[in-house]
Amino acid sequence: MKVFITQKIPEIAKNILLENGFEVEEFKEDRPIKKEELIELASEADAVLSLLTDKIDKSVIDQLPDCKIISNYAVGFNNIDVDYAGSKGIIVTNTPDILTDATADIAMTLMLASARRLVEGEKYMRNKKFTGWKPQLLMGIELRGKNVGIIGAGRIGYETAKRAKSFGTNIIYYSRSRKDNFEKELDATFMELDDLMKESDIISLHIPLNEETHKLLNKERLEIMKKDAIVINTARGEVIDEKYLIKMLKEGKIFSAGFDVYENEPIVNEELFELDNVVLLPHLGSATFDTRKNMAELCANNIANVLNGKDPITRVN
Ligand code: NAP
Ligand code: GLV
Ligand code: GLV
Repeated sequence: MKVFITQKIPEIAKNILLENGFEVEEFKEDRPIKKEELIELASEADAVLSLLTDKIDKSVIDQLPDCKIISNYAVGFNNIDVDYAGSKGIIVTNTPDILTDATADIAMTLMLASARRLVEGEKYMRNKKFTGWKPQLLMGIELRGKNVGIIGAGRIGYETAKRAKSFGTNIIYYSRSRKDNFEKELDATFMELDDLMKESDIISLHIPLNEETHKLLNKERLEIMKKDAIVINTARGEVIDEKYLIKMLKEGKIFSAGFDVYENEPIVNEELFELDNVVLLPHLGSATFDTRKNMAELCANNIANVLNGKDPITRVN
């Protein structure tokens, strides 16, 4: 049985696959694989271990005749045409739970950094502008007492809300359904999306990207935010009208925004680099040593299970 891994990931994945007696081929270059390369190199694979940067659409799936499982090295699976894979008998798996804490930590980091102007302060130091403590230097927004609006009350949304709550904020949330853990454990209030947009001081996005959530935060919804609002996006760039958000940041219509994800990754809208009131991270949500190792292990075990005729651990279709 042959397994194709679309980029180098922690060694443990390869070791598990080799121990199971599979042949393993890895794409060697330090960049996302191109569609043509993937089609060529994975054409005989029984399993593909893919990254969120690999767009696995119908045209790719049609060229994977022997493939039994696509094991995605991410919890999000919007990069894969999951229904089409299913129609071809291909199982798709992802990496839920194990990256929840790491990603919630990044959302909280962006929240604090955007509220307290961390990057502006850091640049100020490096530019040797610090001449001593000043009563009105780089004043930011205090978290205590503010309303944090969580959009998408799933695993990462909950852990982010829990962290924010510990800073003295009030949690409000919007999701497909009401959540007991939010309401009972965090005393959170459910709101319809437009109400949440109006009431939140800080908005944090935790929905998956799909047809329903594409540009969920459109121009009209962004417009109704408070004047000093902060937007944090660790979900997917495409869930916001990014261009309009940038326009609002430029015009000072909201206080700031923290980005871990972008609408046209890996291309980043150049206007963002000109703004002081943004914090920009290169999609680091799950990027800790522990989490990336656990993701590699889970991806490999999903493949091992399926190729050995067992059920995968974390199936999405
Ligand atoms: P999850 O547990 O499935 O949570 C997603 C939540 O969104 C669920 O509560 C779901 O509602 C809700 N939802 C789905 N569609 C919705 C819609 N149309 N309207 C309103 N709510 C909707 O997923 P997760 O593990 O927290 O991950 C969330 C997302 O974070 C991933 O899909 C991924 O895109 C992103 N992510 C990013 C990073 C990063 O590196 N920045 C890392 C990990 C994940 P139900 O509970 O009713 O299903
Ligand atoms: C990262 O963005 C993931 O979906 O795991
Ligand atoms: C600040 O450093 C203070 O002591 O208040």
